[in-house]
Amino acid sequence: MVDIAKQSSGRTSARDIAVWDPLIRLIHWTLALTILLNGAFIEAESEMHEWIGYIALSLVGVRLIWGLIGPKHARFAAFPPSPARVSRHIKAMLRGDQTIHLSHNPLGALMTYNIWLTVIAIGVTGYMMTTLTFFGIDWVEEAHETIFGWLLFSIALHIAGVAFDTWRSGVNLVRAMVSGRKNIPQGREVE
Ligand code: HEM
Ligand code: HEM
Repeated sequence: MVDIAKQSSGRTSARDIAVWDPLIRLIHWTLALTILLNGAFIEAESEMHEWIGYIALSLVGVRLIWGLIGPKHARFAAFPPSPARVSRHIKAMLRGDQTIHLSHNPLGALMTYNIWLTVIAIGVTGYMMTTLTFFGIDWVEEAHETIFGWLLFSIALHIAGVAFDTWRSGVNLVRAMVSGRKNIPQGREVE
């Protein structure tokens, strides 16, 4: 595999650029697995459900630390949550601009923060249900389930977004989340 002369920005003739480090990929697919297990397979009132929920929370916790100290494309600075960037990105897409983002594109960035916050909210309401203060309180249980509904909606949108951007950019994003590398078509701007 060829690495790249210019990884930060500008036009490049490189083919394969390393973007997602192994920890990002491990956290991504393990987090997806915990949500799948707790959402679809594990008895909700079991101890296993609680353990898996805490694993999901811990994965997000580690990822948030990684956002501060991890490699370049993993850092929050590479994908700040910014409505102004989203608006510029949408306008650029409408103009047919095919610039490729090495980290998350501005829309993907918003979805990423949304998913993390949502998982945290589910974990916190789940924990609350186990405390003396909130045990048996309806609104906490309802919040846990409603926020889970929001997570499902977000994940559907996330997968649709990944499919759309794979089509738009010509970069196979799922492959990148598996191998860690984005395959950039020749002569395209990267940022
Ligand atoms: C429960 C299911 C899922 C959850 C909670 C989830 C969550 C996330 C999160 C939080 C990120 C940001 C990663 C980071 O910066 O650390 C992400 C990125 C990504 N996810 Fe998922 N994901 C799920 C399922 C999937 C599935 C099924 C696919 C494949 C179709 C997928 C493909 C991707 C890709 C390609 C990226 C990187 C997008 C980019 O290049 O900007 N995800 N996902
Ligand atoms: C982030 C991961 C989590 C996900 C995706 C998740 C998902 C769900 C879902 C979908 C339900 C509703 C099941 C149903 O009634 O059909 C549920 C119920 C429940 N969850 Fe979680 N949960 C998570 C984390 C946790 C944690 C960390 C705890 C506690 C430590 C917890 C405690 C509970 C309890 C006690 C119920 C049963 C509520 C009832 O009485 O119906 N969950 N969870």
